[in-house]
Amino acid sequence: MASAVSFPPANVQMLQGRSCHGHAAFGSCSAVPRTGPRVRSTAVRVSSEQEAAAAVRAPSGRSIEECEADAVAGRFPAPPPLVRPKAPEGTPQIRPLDIEKRPRRNRKSPALRAAFQETTISPANLVLPLFIHEGEEDAPIGAMPGCFRLGWRHGLLDEVYKARDVGVNSFVLFPKIPDALKSQSGDEAYNDNGLVPRTIRLLKDKFPDIVVYTDVALDPYSSDGHDGIVREDGVIMNDETVYQLCKQAVSQARAGADVVSPSDMMDGRVGAIRAALDAEGFHDVSIMSYTAKYASSFYGPFREALDSNPRFGDKKTYQMNPANYREALLETAADEAEGADILLVKPGLPYLDIIRLLRDNSALPIAAYQVSGEYSMIKAAGALKMIDEEKVMMESLMCLRRAGADIILTYFARQAATVLCGMRSK
Ligand code: PBG
Repeated sequence: MASAVSFPPANVQMLQGRSCHGHAAFGSCSAVPRTGPRVRSTAVRVSSEQEAAAAVRAPSGRSIEECEADAVAGRFPAPPPLVRPKAPEGTPQIRPLDIEKRPRRNRKSPALRAAFQETTISPANLVLPLFIHEGEEDAPIGAMPGCFRLGWRHGLLDEVYKARDVGVNSFVLFPKIPDALKSQSGDEAYNDNGLVPRTIRLLKDKFPDIVVYTDVALDPYSSDGHDGIVREDGVIMNDETVYQLCKQAVSQARAGADVVSPSDMMDGRVGAIRAALDAEGFHDVSIMSYTAKYASSFYGPFREALDSNPRFGDKKTYQMNPANYREALLETAADEAEGADILLVKPGLPYLDIIRLLRDNSALPIAAYQVSGEYSMIKAAGALKMIDEEKVMMESLMCLRRAGADIILTYFARQAATVLCGMRSK
């Protein structure tokens, strides 16, 4: 067998063309599937590569078996001839550039490129946001093709089951609350029998080993559609809102949440939530703080999904100005000091510089949220055949990792994990 290796790997080109290698650059799947047959293990893939290699002929035109037989008989191949492959008609005759550095040398073959790849991504890095509602049916979300408001009893469990099958074990819940339960103070947010706590209990009962993240903010429960309580002059009240958020976080922790994620951008909420959790004995419940959440137009499709558009005004008095960079450092320092376990940047791709800024200024894990508008743009351009949806999806996620994100909240989580596992995504 070893003698086959002494030939230049002519099979490389052929392997490149094979479809299951389209995403080899993203690293192999580390999913540990519960149901064996659907997910192909890395080992299986290696052996099919060997089969493919066996079907390939050496540059000399002989089969691998013939080459092996030669080697066994003591006839070893001559060094490859020093012929220069022909350039096309019209190629200028030039003297080679006198340069020492040719970075392309490290990109010349798939094996070298794989060896020097700096960033990888695995299903373990992905968190899947799930929209839930009280209904029994799954309702498609118009502005987010492929996403549904899932019935909390059935559709949700099915989606979680499928995601786990491809190695996604982390989920974040976003509820659509009936208008009748909304109020100006958002009290439904801490109803222990509300949609979110009920759903957490169901999920943790059925899948005890998954990680359940929750959203801490009043907007799904606010009749004003704001993340906090709105005073009559339109001001979003900070400390009173934080009081409500603490009750919300404790209620979620009581239901079994692993990580509570304040996305509201009130000042001082991380420290207050930490104290409230600890006072109730929830020392092990983590806080993922939306540290740098920008007042972004990329949230449009999400607000449609949850029917959570602010009834008036915008969110600019609490979410950050998209023009600001340094300000993210103030938020980082505050969240770290107040006891956050994970720092989140949102949106994702248009804010790669902020992800890198946090990565370089904190030792905490960094999360990036590839938000609804980013998702929908890729889906729409893909549907119009303007881009290759799957490739752009994988590249966008890799870029978020490269910028410094440990985990990525993305509506593509299941689709991307499917690709990473070497399965077809559609
Ligand atoms: C609000 C919240 C929003 C998102 C997550 N939590 C929207 C907003 O701030 O209005 C947006 C997520 C997305 O667009 O995918 N607490």
